[in-house]
Amino acid sequence: MIIAPSVLSADFGNIKESIARVSSTKWLHVDVMDGHFVPNISIGPVVVKGLRKYTTQILDTHLMITDPFKYAEEFVKAGSDRITFHVETVLNPIELIEKLRKLNVKVGISIKPDTEVSAITELLPYVDQILVMSVEPGFGGQKFMEQALDKISKIDQLREDLDNDIIIVVDGGINQETGKLCKKAGADVLVAGSYIFNSEDAQERIDSLR
Ligand code: DX5
Ligand code: ZN
Repeated sequence: MIIAPSVLSADFGNIKESIARVSSTKWLHVDVMDGHFVPNISIGPVVVKGLRKYTTQILDTHLMITDPFKYAEEFVKAGSDRITFHVETVLNPIELIEKLRKLNVKVGISIKPDTEVSAITELLPYVDQILVMSVEPGFGGQKFMEQALDKISKIDQLREDLDNDIIIVVDGGINQETGKLCKKAGADVLVAGSYIFNSEDAQERIDSLR
């Protein structure tokens, strides 16, 4: 499994040391919230730029913002390697995907718990990853919603039918138990915030997910 610790649960008063605790993972998940698409505000491009100085991990940036078209490029410039935006926020996803492709980043699309897989089926051939939200986006530390498992299985089946190597990411409420269920359903990447960072031994938590 690829493990992507979510920096939302890191200690922002000591971000350098906090992310050093999770430096063994390939990916680092960066949650961007605008207080509009979700009822919380988190970080902007300046923080991504700061993180970029301290790590060579893949910065997997999850845009939970109303206008990804306007801001995505800023995050690429700041150092994001992968940009995921929400299908619920754009009228013409293909247009944004093409724009991001030109910027030379990997592109992902995400669905909230109430959004069906059918909303993204047509986009599968055009993106690198699908991020299935297993909590309502906005906050760390929420309970895993089991309905995400069905969606993961569906996407897993679709990619098999299409002979497509798209990556399936699951985000929200991940711990050893829910992580196992997601793996079984077909997920490739587990995003985990509180489970990893709220432990004295972050590495042990990472190992347990792996
Ligand atoms: C929630 C974010 C998640 C969050 C996960 O909107 O997208 O990435 O940090 O946190 P946990 O793992 O604590 O549910
Ligand atoms: Zn996220």
